[in-house]
Amino acid sequence: MNKKKNSHEHLQYLLDEHEEILSHIKELHDWWTELDERGLPKFGEMGTRVEGFRDLLAKHFENEKEEGYFKPVLDESSGFCIMVPDFKTKHTTILCRIDDFASRLKQSKHPFKNWSEASLEFKALLSDLREHEDQEIKMVQDAFNRSVSK
Ligand SMILES: [Fe+2]
Ligand SMILES: [Fe+2]
Repeated sequence: MNKKKNSHEHLQYLLDEHEEILSHIKELHDWWTELDERGLPKFGEMGTRVEGFRDLLAKHFENEKEEGYFKPVLDESSGFCIMVPDFKTKHTTILCRIDDFASRLKQSKHPFKNWSEASLEFKALLSDLREHEDQEIKMVQDAFNRSVSK
């Protein structure tokens, strides 16, 4: 019974942590949208913000790599372990793309044709990341629901 409670609490923690990451994604997205609306491109400042977000995300990915982090999800969903190697590759790819994007934003002569070119890349990046996180959230949510109905 105790074990069940702990696993349930841990699933709740995983949901909370993902909620937090989603809110950081939203914050960054909102800031970009605000600049868009005001017609005020700020490449360098955006680069700094993207870097700040990258650090939070890297920490989140580190947690996910830790043994036991996804344990209650693995216990509840047999297909999940097959997906873990994919997640690790995806983490590395996403972080590399963010690094590369931020460093180009911060160059004194940035290589973008214009702000909308940077916007397109930014939105594609965030949407890939959101898709990845949503997939994880769905699995955690499913495991959570199963643990409640037991
Ligand atoms: Fe992940
Ligand atoms: Fe995640």
